[in-house]
Amino acid sequence: MSKEKITNTMWGGRFEDRPADIMQQINVSINVDKRLWRQDIRGSIAHAEMLGLQGIIPKKDSAAIVKGLKQVALEIERGEFVFREDLEDIHMNVEARLKEIIGDVAGRLHTARSRNDQVATDFRMWVREASQELFQLIETLQDTLEDLTEKHKNDVMPGFTHLQAAQPITLGVHLEAYAHMLNRDKTRLRDLAKRINKCPLGAAALAGTPYPIDRNYTAQALGFDRPMQNTLDAVSARDFAAEFLFACAQCGLNLSRLAEEIILWATPQFGFITLSDSWSTGSSIMPQKKNPDAAELVRGKTGRLIGNLIQMMTVLKGLPLAYNKDLQEDKEPVFDSYDTISLCLQAIKGMMETATFHTDKMLQSAEMGYTTATALADWLVMTLGLPFREAHHVTGAIVKMAERKGCKLEELALDEMKAVESRINDDIYRVLSVKKARK
Ligand code: ARG
Repeated sequence: MSKEKITNTMWGGRFEDRPADIMQQINVSINVDKRLWRQDIRGSIAHAEMLGLQGIIPKKDSAAIVKGLKQVALEIERGEFVFREDLEDIHMNVEARLKEIIGDVAGRLHTARSRNDQVATDFRMWVREASQELFQLIETLQDTLEDLTEKHKNDVMPGFTHLQAAQPITLGVHLEAYAHMLNRDKTRLRDLAKRINKCPLGAAALAGTPYPIDRNYTAQALGFDRPMQNTLDAVSARDFAAEFLFACAQCGLNLSRLAEEIILWATPQFGFITLSDSWSTGSSIMPQKKNPDAAELVRGKTGRLIGNLIQMMTVLKGLPLAYNKDLQEDKEPVFDSYDTISLCLQAIKGMMETATFHTDKMLQSAEMGYTTATALADWLVMTLGLPFREAHHVTGAIVKMAERKGCKLEELALDEMKAVESRINDDIYRVLSVKKARK
């Protein structure tokens, strides 16, 4: 066996030929999974400590490994670490460097462990932390929206159904709807972070390990609630990643709806909102343009968020137990969704807190399109005791009259309305103005 042909010192024992170039290219994941380095080293430290405490490896070796791993962490932190593609992934990159630092003792670290339980553990920790960070980010956007809700709680605007003016509402109530959506997105992340917080470490390749390991020790050291009981499930489950991707996609979807409204409201036709210059772009050919690009990008990037979820679920569909290399495709969508949704949340916050809301224009718009017609019908029911269907007809006739005259409902004379329904009295003017909009 010609040793120099073997490139992978981690698993190359039975191999005589080095991998083909394309084999290496399709196999390598270091450029993606290097983002797991903190979790990987933290996991390895806990594992090495446990091996020492359990007497599985000598205490002094455990101590040397822990010390060496801390140095590796420092090197990565300082940007001095050289990530090598020939070492495939983050796990083997870290271990190879550890060996350079502390020598052959490094080879004891992988006792009673496989990369299968190692990567599942690292990745769960990463998703758990990412969920907590997104929770915070959503909360700051929620604060912005809640401030705006309070500020505009009396500013009337048209509420829409079918994008047709429906009933007068307040801008406050409209914005509050998004704050409430975001609250669900936020708590969804909290719920999933709790659900996924079980530790795969100790499942080894798939069937556990004969060494007297202490899974409770490592689970606790890594901040998990407890070890995952079924070892096949531990190494092959990625529903935690799918859940996270759904949470990101759903949050993006909500932001995309707000983005769409920002885009519409910023048109001269609506004129409800002007974005600040710092959150707009210009056109290279049409000097008058001020474009809401950030809002359009939030809307567009939501496609990626949904795509990432679909990608993950498609990879998992039909995979037999337990670990399969397909699972290496789990990280890119998760990292991308995290990056994407983080950007979107901050962009929406930036746009919203610097935008100018033209509440005069909103009020004017609410006054068009007879948005108080439903309130009129309700008055007929509550004051005159009309069945709603009849009230609806009476109101329709009154709206038609106003339309013919080209005036607002509140500009109709009492006698004109009485001609439609004789029992109408002047109390009706109480509900005809949009200023009485529901808050
Ligand atoms: N880089 C791999 C991944 O992300 C680590 C696990 C490799 N396991 C194996 N049996 N080849 O999935």
